Amino acid sequence: MMKTQPQSEAINVFLEEKRTFEPPASFRRSANIQDPDIYERAARDVESFWARFASELVWMKKWDRVLEWDPPDAKWFVNGKLNVSFNCVDRWAKSEFRNKAAIIWEGEPGEERTLTYEVLYREVNQFASALKKLGVAKGDRVAIYMPMIPETAIAMLACARIGAVHSVVFGGFSAESLADRINDAQAKVLITADGGYRRGSVVPLKRDADAALTKTPSIEHVVVVDRCHSNPPMKDGRDRWWHEVMGDAQKFCAPEPMDSEDLLYILYTSGTTGKPKGVIHTTGGYLTGVYATAKWVFDLKPSDVYWCSADIGWVTGHSYVVYGPLANAATVFMYEGAPNWPENDRFWKLIEKYRVTIFYTAPTAIRAFMKWGTEWPERCDLSSLRLLGTVGEPINPEAWMWYHKYIGREKCPVVDTWWQTETGMILITPLPGIVTTKPGSATKPFPGVEACIMNGQGEKVEVGGGYLAITKPWPAMLRGIYGDRKRYIQEYWSRWDKIYFPADGAKRDEEGYFWLLGRVDDVLNVAGHRIGTMEVESALVDHMSVAEAAVVGKPHEIKGEAIVCFVTLKEGIQRSADLAKQLKEHVANKIGKIVRPEEIIFSAELPKTRSGKIMRRLLKDIALGKVLGDTTTLADPDVVKRLKEQYENTEA
Ligand code: PRX
Repeated sequence: MMKTQPQSEAINVFLEEKRTFEPPASFRRSANIQDPDIYERAARDVESFWARFASELVWMKKWDRVLEWDPPDAKWFVNGKLNVSFNCVDRWAKSEFRNKAAIIWEGEPGEERTLTYEVLYREVNQFASALKKLGVAKGDRVAIYMPMIPETAIAMLACARIGAVHSVVFGGFSAESLADRINDAQAKVLITADGGYRRGSVVPLKRDADAALTKTPSIEHVVVVDRCHSNPPMKDGRDRWWHEVMGDAQKFCAPEPMDSEDLLYILYTSGTTGKPKGVIHTTGGYLTGVYATAKWVFDLKPSDVYWCSADIGWVTGHSYVVYGPLANAATVFMYEGAPNWPENDRFWKLIEKYRVTIFYTAPTAIRAFMKWGTEWPERCDLSSLRLLGTVGEPINPEAWMWYHKYIGREKCPVVDTWWQTETGMILITPLPGIVTTKPGSATKPFPGVEACIMNGQGEKVEVGGGYLAITKPWPAMLRGIYGDRKRYIQEYWSRWDKIYFPADGAKRDEEGYFWLLGRVDDVLNVAGHRIGTMEVESALVDHMSVAEAAVVGKPHEIKGEAIVCFVTLKEGIQRSADLAKQLKEHVANKIGKIVRPEEIIFSAELPKTRSGKIMRRLLKDIALGKVLGDTTTLADPDVVKRLKEQYENTEA
């Protein structure tokens, strides 16, 4: 069900924001892209614009045509052949960057590792050989369920090297979520670890993987990294230690020549149904898009230490921890654990210690830092920083200002980057050496990208609010949903003709700046993570006590949105605080800990239309404590009144 227009209060808040920040002169002078005319030049000839970036990569065979656009199907760099791992690793390992750090890693307990491009080359080759030996061939799917350790990037690059399609599943997802994703992709091999460290304890990944593996008949082998030495059970014939398969493997594995449109990876994300969708990304266009945006948005230079704090399990980790930066020969810093372990200043200590120059994180993290207080960053030397970025959710101007002032010390440009799992690459963002920023605005489409605002009638809005629309194909765009063509067309291409529908509300101001306002579908953004309300509802009704459930989001000071569940119990089941706790736990177990609901509201009935559709909009009004909107289409208008009274009493 589509919500109506994005909330007008949100638009008003942003309308009042008048502060502007020009790029500092010193930054502007040395930025990778300094010429403001680039926007116009790119728009004049979009294909040449992208082709120039593509030609900075190494191709085994050059493309015949830049783009074939048969909406909704795009082919980029048609008939070109290349290998992503060659471009991210071999290329630099065989150059003067051979001994440059590719990945600098720190574990939560404090261990340090540095992998030069040469070392990364060795590891990727060896693991690619190991995968081949386990029977993985081009086109096979490999699931990856790992903590934030260098082996996660190595595993992805090794898959890319042999043409296997990886499907990384975030380590915070439950066994059941992992099993669903493995089964949907029919993965042949699972790569995992015994565990990973988070807030001082071991997250038992192998235990959860074992639970998933009882229902995943497609998996033939499991490779396990011995990260925590926690001695998990290993199943004979199926489970192999990473260090053992590496020990037996050949030192070199030739990179597979991949067609530009061959699959690189599948990444599952939440949509408006109960079942997550496997977004698919291909090879040539994706690499070109993430290479170009990493180079210009993060202004990567050989001397930088670049840190994107996202987990590799999310698209941000794919595009801007692994592929984009490594294709630029960057030095990527990677940290395994929590920002508040052992204390609230861990991130700032890491920046100080490794002299991090570029830092990219999520608004939800920034809001947590704000809450913890300025004394933590103030105690650390953050003078190495020269550029800050945010992604994942709308950033409220106050959080932007705090980040600018206390982390950037008022000298670093802040790039608020809007994009999605589906877009593969950043689409709306400042170019830090060119664009004057406004707190809370992601500013303008990247050169070569075309976006606008549409109203409910499908007309373009020059100034004002409406739905965000992307009107031209871009190289890293999704090519489909794995195994579900119908859903691909339905969700992204059926609202307007030949125009991509991201399901985000946005506003465009007089100067053409975009202000993102959040989702307009039934997808929540909790702590920067996308969660479908239907997924949570399915998990709830799966509990034996629950008859019916409706889930809505409610603004949350730190997480952005929190999950509120309205639940109707089966006949004869008693409401209790204990049952509410059980239901929260049940959802966390079914989907993952990140999805634990904030509130469970028991209700005798849920408000429905006469045709039986649950009216989530009204439930949201109740959760927000708002005056109720139009209730005339309800089958029983009194249900809402009763529910509202009950909710207000519960809160008191
Ligand atoms: O609502 C938008 C929000 O995150 C959604 C995409 O989520 P996901 O696919 O998980 O990818 C997140 C990381 C790329 C979008 O539909 N979003 C992402 N970045 C921003 C944002 N909202 C406002 N401002 C942003 N910078």
